[in-house]
Amino acid sequence: MSQLFSPLTIKDVTFKNRIGVSPMCQYSAENGLVNDWHKVHLGSRAVGGAGLIIAEATAVLPEGRITPACVGIWNDEQVEALTPITRFIEQYGAVPGIQIGHAGRKASAARPWDGGQHLKNEEGGYDIIGPGDEPFDKEGVRLWKTPKKMTVDDIHRVQNAFVDAAKRSLAAGYKLLEIHGAHGYLLHSFFTPLVNKRDDEYGGSLENRARMMLETAEKIREVWPENLPLAVRLSTSDWDEQGLDISDNIQMAKWLKVRGVDIIDCSAGGASPSSRSSIGSRTSDQIGLAAEIKSTANIKTMAVGTITEAEQAERIIASDQADIVLLARAMLRDPYWAFHAAQTLGVDTKTVAPIQNAFFVG
Ligand SMILES: Cc1cc2nc3c(=O)[nH]c(=O)nc-3n(C[C@H](O)[C@H](O)[C@H](O)COP(=O)(O)O)c2cc1C
Repeated sequence: MSQLFSPLTIKDVTFKNRIGVSPMCQYSAENGLVNDWHKVHLGSRAVGGAGLIIAEATAVLPEGRITPACVGIWNDEQVEALTPITRFIEQYGAVPGIQIGHAGRKASAARPWDGGQHLKNEEGGYDIIGPGDEPFDKEGVRLWKTPKKMTVDDIHRVQNAFVDAAKRSLAAGYKLLEIHGAHGYLLHSFFTPLVNKRDDEYGGSLENRARMMLETAEKIREVWPENLPLAVRLSTSDWDEQGLDISDNIQMAKWLKVRGVDIIDCSAGGASPSSRSSIGSRTSDQIGLAAEIKSTANIKTMAVGTITEAEQAERIIASDQADIVLLARAMLRDPYWAFHAAQTLGVDTKTVAPIQNAFFVG
């Protein structure tokens, strides 16, 4: 019997299988509003049979968008636009999830296919913030903008925006909430010593650097219903000797678990130019990190990184390295990846695809 296609229940939410669509920015929104593109992008992967669909990094504040074309959830109009998408996903058997985040010093960038460099304000960019005032790159290089070093008031303002975004996510019909704590964006940039050089209670020791992430998770858990799963995506390694390693992240996972986080989405990288990219060629190294977090911090995990084959995904779940596998680029190549994986593994596709498809081609 396939473990990949066995259901999983976390709190009151049951996922029909262990296959999830990893959050993927589409760089296709206007004023933070989703449109038909997002509905088809996410909806087609629900029809394709994945059990969990996580919407892209969705900004809690306008200046928290990675690019001006990123989706936001800082107002009610955005909630209204997101709601038909969650309804569709759920109607066809998948769990709608959302990743909420703030891009910190990496915000205000051009879309990848426009070069990905920081945009001046007169080009549609915006002022950026971070734990300190060091830019991601050097002057004249891609992410050159100087962030404003956040005051404690700024920290509280952003944390409150996360809380409001969690409430709005619930109103929009999401059943799994993921906090973006990875890839060098704001929460991760506080945690990693590669970026955070503060000397107040939000910097210095591991505990102090973890404070921004932990307080945010704690405040979100107060408003995100107890019966719905809460996830955090971590960069489980900075891939840099001066940065965070797996043991720091095991500690973070333990702290998050105590605060009511149910599952850790185990990505890596992205903090600085010296640390590997989260979509680079060696992302498959992340699977082992998910397994280590799961066994050592004793918390559920999602594994992500170059998962492309049905048998590979089956092995990850069957060997208990993770509870869910997330796929990003493989899902771009094939929105019906889950349906095809079921065929490969000899699973009845009627349990995977909606009846409109399964009745005829099961
Ligand atoms: C087009 C694209 C957009 C992405 N956007 C996000 C995002 O919004 N949030 C995030 O945490 N990761 C994002 N990622 C990273 C993926 O979620 C995933 O972790 C990474 O691509 C590795 O998985 P893969 O090997 O299956 O592609 C993105 C990746 C791609 C290819």
